[in-house]
Amino acid sequence: MKLLVIGSGGREHALVWKLAQSPHVKQMWCAPGNAGIAQEHLTSNQPVECVNLSAEDLPKLLSFAQEKKPDLVVVGPDNPLALGIVDLFQQHGLRIWGPNQKAAQFESSKVFSQNFMEKYGIPTAQAGTFSDEHSAKAFATLLGGRCAVKADGLALGKGVLICKSVAEANQAIDEILVSKAFGVAGAKIVIQELLEGMEISLHALCDGKTAKLFPTAQDHKRALDGDRGLNTGGMGTYSPAPFLNDAQLADVGRQILNPWLKGCAAEGLDFRGIIYPGVMLTKEGPKVIEFNARFGDPEAQVYLTRLENDLVELLDASVNGTLDKMELRWSPMTSVCVVMASAGYPGAYAKGKPIAGLTEAGQLPHTKVFHAGTTGSGKTILTNGGRVVGVTAWAADLPRARAAAYTAVEKIQFDGAQFRHDIAAKALG
Ligand code: AMP
Ligand code: GLY
Repeated sequence: MKLLVIGSGGREHALVWKLAQSPHVKQMWCAPGNAGIAQEHLTSNQPVECVNLSAEDLPKLLSFAQEKKPDLVVVGPDNPLALGIVDLFQQHGLRIWGPNQKAAQFESSKVFSQNFMEKYGIPTAQAGTFSDEHSAKAFATLLGGRCAVKADGLALGKGVLICKSVAEANQAIDEILVSKAFGVAGAKIVIQELLEGMEISLHALCDGKTAKLFPTAQDHKRALDGDRGLNTGGMGTYSPAPFLNDAQLADVGRQILNPWLKGCAAEGLDFRGIIYPGVMLTKEGPKVIEFNARFGDPEAQVYLTRLENDLVELLDASVNGTLDKMELRWSPMTSVCVVMASAGYPGAYAKGKPIAGLTEAGQLPHTKVFHAGTTGSGKTILTNGGRVVGVTAWAADLPRARAAAYTAVEKIQFDGAQFRHDIAAKALG
């Protein structure tokens, strides 16, 4: 098979690394890819080829795909899905994995998701959706100001403002609805009550009818140790997260996915891809705070280092609607990913800093350095983004996996490198 993978982050490096292990794959391109993806090889030893096309430039991606005729296109990030890449490629007879534009609304519209959860009885926060600031403020006041104010559309992961007082909530509502801090993405907002509890990531692979639940993972969204600092795309993950045993996970999965599948059928939503609910484990039970319609980043890094199936076969089944015949198999190992980011991230940061120690770190056993914002080749690899690498290691238990990940982190240096020192610490009590 010939594969085209779309995206350039750590998630896409993990996807390419895992897909390249499949004997089905004879050729692979990644658009645009990164320096780590460009170093990957197929089982035949043929290199993966990075193509300098933006993941959001749908017309150029389409021309490239029409020329190369991949047997399957794999979409990593949310933006091309929200822009309708799946619909466009299908209209041109190309096989592509990911939800179509209508199904991708679970991520591209928080108002859509909130309404859907309420209509189909998926456990979620008490919430309201608003386009007028006066009724929004009245609702936030009812909640005592303790709420999450969320822009409806995609806002580069920055569209959620956590408020602890009526004054903060009023300010957040003004920022989004009146000052238009997120432009049209903030024409509507969702206001949710503030939930308390342990936050975990769930993923399920879907084929339109069947959803296969993954093990648990936990992300660390804040920039600094102790969950302080600004929200980021994610500074580190581990899987499994020990807050649910197998029976509890299956139960939570049923509470969320059964009504979700029923709702999808009722609304004519043909979801083929990854549905990723962010879940708060509250005293009253699990509650979904948001849906994403793709692999998490850096959740993909820990999931794909534990997945034992051939990923090509799973994605094929997801596209074909035959997932009911597949069984997902997971390594019992724990996997830990520590993200090393540029100084200043998630705010402004410099690019072009040389990265040392990648080869040494990559030679450690049961360790994989997934590149995110990197560029260059050979011995000169430079930083090229906020999140630079996701250093991932796996071992028989969490303490060992965590120690191995940090041993590898210590080998890698670049000017201003920042990372959290407490990834997976919550699981160690
Ligand atoms: P989201 O983009 O919706 O995942 O929100 C970003 C982060 O804000 C989440 O990862 C949570 O940590 C936090 N958050 C969102 N909604 C809520 C809520 N209703 N209660 C508490 N925290 C929330
Ligand atoms: N890890 C958070 C996300 O991918 O949205």
